[in-house]
Amino acid sequence: MGKDMIYTVGIVGLGYVGLPLARLFLEKGHTVYGIDLDERKIQKLTKRQSYLSDFSNTDVRRMFSKGRFFVGSSYEVISHVDVMILCVPTPLDEVAKPDLRFVREAMTAALPYLRIGQLVILESSTYPGTTEEELLPLIESIGLKVGKDISLVYSPERIDPGQSVYELQEIPKILGGVTPSCTHFGKRVYETIFNRVVVVSSPRAAEMTKLLENSQRFVNISFMNELMMLCDKMNIDLWEVIASASTKPYGFTPYYPGPGIGGHCIPVDPLYLSWKAKTFDMDLEFIELANKINEQIPEFVVRKIEKHLSSVKPLHDSSILVIGVTYKKDVNDLRESRALEIIKRLKDSGAKVNFYDPFIEQIELDGTNVKRISLTRRYVQQHDCTLILTDHSGIPYEEIVNNAPLVFDTRNAAGKFKNRGNVILL
Ligand SMILES: NC(=O)c1ccc[n+]([C@@H]2O[C@H](COP(=O)([O-])OP(=O)(O)OC[C@H]3O[C@@H](n4cnc5c(N)ncnc54)[C@H](O)[C@@H]3O)[C@@H](O)[C@H]2O)c1
Repeated sequence: MGKDMIYTVGIVGLGYVGLPLARLFLEKGHTVYGIDLDERKIQKLTKRQSYLSDFSNTDVRRMFSKGRFFVGSSYEVISHVDVMILCVPTPLDEVAKPDLRFVREAMTAALPYLRIGQLVILESSTYPGTTEEELLPLIESIGLKVGKDISLVYSPERIDPGQSVYELQEIPKILGGVTPSCTHFGKRVYETIFNRVVVVSSPRAAEMTKLLENSQRFVNISFMNELMMLCDKMNIDLWEVIASASTKPYGFTPYYPGPGIGGHCIPVDPLYLSWKAKTFDMDLEFIELANKINEQIPEFVVRKIEKHLSSVKPLHDSSILVIGVTYKKDVNDLRESRALEIIKRLKDSGAKVNFYDPFIEQIELDGTNVKRISLTRRYVQQHDCTLILTDHSGIPYEEIVNNAPLVFDTRNAAGKFKNRGNVILL
C-alpha cells in the first residue's frame, strides 16, 4: 500500500478538468477508463486528436501510448474500476440557480455498475452539501452503505487552464470523505498522483473550500471593476494605482479589472453558494453585489468605446476589430465569455464588428455563425477601433498600437504604449 499502489480509474467527463486528470493518472502508471457522452470528444480522442488548448495531438497520442487509456460513452466499464471520479459540468440554470443535472445523471448512469470496495469522488465545483445530499442517497438507494461497502469523497479541482506556472500535480489536492475510511481511501489514491494532499474534516468543508477560493476572486475582481467605473469618472488610471499599491510588501493582493468575469467557474460557483445560503435564510450580500456589478460591465465597455469614438464618428457608423473572445487568455473556452455579450451589444448599437482570436475560428451570434478574420496590418488600419477583450499571448500588441486609429484595451495588454495617444485603457 502507499505511493506506488496502482489503480484502475474511471473518469466521467473528459473536459478541461477530466482530461488533464486522466493524463496525470496515466503518467503515474494507472489505468484510466474515460467516459464522456459528447461523441465528438470521444471521436477526437479515438483519432488521437486534441480538443483542449492546453493539449497537443502529441499529448493525446502519449496518453494512449502505453495501452492503459480507454475512452467511450458506455458506463459498463465502471464495473472494472477501483475509483470513479465525476468531472461533469455544474452550470446555472435559466434562472441562475444551481443545475446539478449532469452530476445526478452521471451518478445515476453509474449505479448499475457500482460494486463493493469502490471509491466514488466528486470533483465538480458545487455548493456545500452536494456530495452528502445528492450522491450519498443515490448510492445507498441500491443497497450499498457509504463508509462500509463503498467510499465517497469530495475533492475540488483547482486546475487553471491556460497557465503553465504550476503543473497539475504541484497544486495541493483538498479532499474530505463522508467517513474517516472514505477519506483514507481518497488520500491513498490521490497521494499516488499529487505531491501534496490536504485532508479536511468533511465533504462539506472541501466543497466550501473551493467556493471560498472562487468567491474571493469574484468579489475582489468585481470590486476592481466598481473602482474602475469610479476612476473613469475621476480620470484616474486604476492600472497605475494597482501597480503602485502592489509595491506594499504585505497585506495587499492585486486583482485587476476587465471586461466582465467569464468562464465556467468564477461567475458561476459563487452563485451556487449564495443559492445554498438562502436555504439557511441568509443573503450573501457580497456575492450578490459582485454579481450585480459584473452584469454592468459589458454595457459600460460599450458606452466608453462610444464616448471615445464620438469625436471621429458615431458608434453605429463605426467598425470595430475585437481581439480575443474567450473568457481568459490562452484557452479555447467561450463559456460565459463577456466578449460575446460585448460584441452583441456593439452590433445591436449598429457597429460593424469583426473578431480575431487565435483559439477560436468562429462564434455564434444570434443563431448566425461568424468567422474570425485574419489579424493583418491592413485590417487593423481599416477598423476605427481595435478592442482588446482577451490578452492572449503571441498577439503583436505593439504593431496593433502602431497601426490602429484607436485601441481600446480592457486588459492592459497594450498599456505600456498608452503614451502614444491612441490607446485607451478600460
Ligand atoms: N474549467 C476549469 O477551469 C475548472 C476548474 C476547476 C473546477 N472546474 C469544475 O469542474 C467541473 C467540470 O468542468 P469542465 O470545465 O471540465 O467542464 P467541461 O464541459 O469541459 O467537461 C465536462 C464534460 O462532461 C461531459 N458530460 C456531461 N454529462 C456527462 C455524463 N452524464 N456522463 C459523461 N460525461 C458527461 C461533457 O460532455 C463534457 O465533456 C465543473 O464543475 C467545473 O466547475 C472547472
